[in-house]
Amino acid sequence: MAKYIIRGGKTLNGAIKVDGSKNATLPILAASILCNDEVTLTNVPRFRDVFNMLKILNALNVETVFIDEHTLKINAKNAKFQAIKSDLSRHIRSSIFMLGSILSRFKEASIAYPGGCDIGTRPINLHIKGLRELGVDILEKHGQIKCNAEKLHAGTVVLDFPSVGTTENLILASVLTEGTTTIINAAKEPEIEDLINFLNSVGANISGGGTSVIKIDGVSELGGATYKIMPDRIIAGTFLIATAITGGRVELHDVNSEHLSSLISKLRQNSCHIVCLDDIIYISSQGRLKANSQIETQVYPGFPTDLQSQMLVLACVSNGNSVITENLFEMRFKTVPELTKMGAKIVVKGKSAIVEGVNKLYGSDVYATDLRGGVGLVLAGLKAEGYTTVHDIEHIERGYFELEKTLTILGADIKKVE
Ligand code: UD1
Repeated sequence: MAKYIIRGGKTLNGAIKVDGSKNATLPILAASILCNDEVTLTNVPRFRDVFNMLKILNALNVETVFIDEHTLKINAKNAKFQAIKSDLSRHIRSSIFMLGSILSRFKEASIAYPGGCDIGTRPINLHIKGLRELGVDILEKHGQIKCNAEKLHAGTVVLDFPSVGTTENLILASVLTEGTTTIINAAKEPEIEDLINFLNSVGANISGGGTSVIKIDGVSELGGATYKIMPDRIIAGTFLIATAITGGRVELHDVNSEHLSSLISKLRQNSCHIVCLDDIIYISSQGRLKANSQIETQVYPGFPTDLQSQMLVLACVSNGNSVITENLFEMRFKTVPELTKMGAKIVVKGKSAIVEGVNKLYGSDVYATDLRGGVGLVLAGLKAEGYTTVHDIEHIERGYFELEKTLTILGADIKKVE
C-alpha cells in the first residue's frame, strides 16, 4: 500500500480548482445505462471509485471512453444484462445504486450484497423496502440480491429516513415507469439534484429535487446529452478546513458556496475569514482557531458526515473544548487512536467525541482506514511538528485525485511513496 510522507508546519497559500463531485458522478453513471443516445459527461473526477463504477458499466457491455482528462463519453445502446458479482461490487458500495437503473433497463437485476464497510454496517433495508413498494420482487440469497421488475409500477413511497442512496435508487427505478411516482421524506442532498438535472437533460420529467417530496413522471425513453458534473462540496470543504488549520490564504475555484453553508458558518465561528463570490471561495486563517463548542452531523443542509473527520482534526488544534456528535455512521471515530498518537486529546462517549484542544500535534506513523478519516490524518500531518507518515492511502484515493500534488501547489511539504 502507498503512503504519504508529510513534513508539517507549512501554511497553505494559492488558488486551486475543485474537482467534480464523486457522489454526483456515481449515480449519474448508473443513470447513463438508461439512455438510448450517447451521453457526454464533463468535469468527471478521476477517482478510484469512479473507475470501479466504470468497470461495472463495462461488465454490462456499456462503452465508456475518456476523450480528455475529465470528459467521458458513454454509449449504452448495446447494454446487456449481467449479474454483478462480489468481485465487482465489493470495491464500491455505490454498486447498490445500479439496482434501480438495471431494473429499469432489464426488468431484472442480480447484485452482490455490498455488505458492511469501514465506517459502519451500512444496511440496505430502505432500498429494498422502497423497491418492494413499487412492485419489485426481491430475493436475498447467498449474498446476492435477485430482483424481478416485471410488476414494477408507479406509486408513493414514504422513506423512514431520508437516505441519499435510497432516494437515488427509487428515482432510477421509476424514471421509465408509466405514471407518477412520489418519494416522500426524500433526501435533499445537492448530488440528488444533480442526478435529477442530468436525467431531465436526457428527457426525464422529475420535479422536487432539493426538497423532501420528489415527483417522477415516467417517460417512455431517455435520449442523450452533454452534462457537467457539479463541484465536489466535500473536497472543497476539506481544503477549507486544511487552510483553517494550517493558516494561510487560499482561493477555491469552481465551487458552489451554497452547498457549504453549514461548514462556512462553523469556520467563521473558528475565526476564519471567508468570502464567497460567484463560484469562488476565498479563505484566510491565522491558524489560531477558536473551538466550536458543538458540531453535530445531520442530513443536508445540516453539517455533513463526510466532513466530520476533517473537523475533528480542526477541533484537536483549536483553542478550547469541542463536542462532535456523529449521527449517521457509527464507526466514523476510527481515526481517534491515530490522532491520539499524534498528541490529540479526545474521549469518545457513544456517538460523541469530546475534544480538548492542544497547542501542538506531533508527527507520527498513522494508518488510514477509510476515505474521509484518512484525509483527516493528512490534515493533522500538515499541522503536526515533524514528519507524519499516513499509510494505506488507497482509501483516500477513492475520493481525492493526486491530493499530494494539489497540496504541494498550495505550499505543503508532502510526497507520495509507492
Ligand atoms: C451517501 C454518500 C456518502 C455520505 C452519505 C450521507 C454516495 C456515494 N455516498 O451514502 O458519502 O456519507 O450519503 O450523506 O453518495 N441507512 C439505512 N438503511 C438503508 C440506507 C441507509 O439504515 O437502506 C442509514 C445508513 O446506515 C446511515 C444513514 O441511513 O446511517 C444515511 O445513509 P445514506 O443517506 O443512505 O447514505 P449513502 O447513500 O450510503
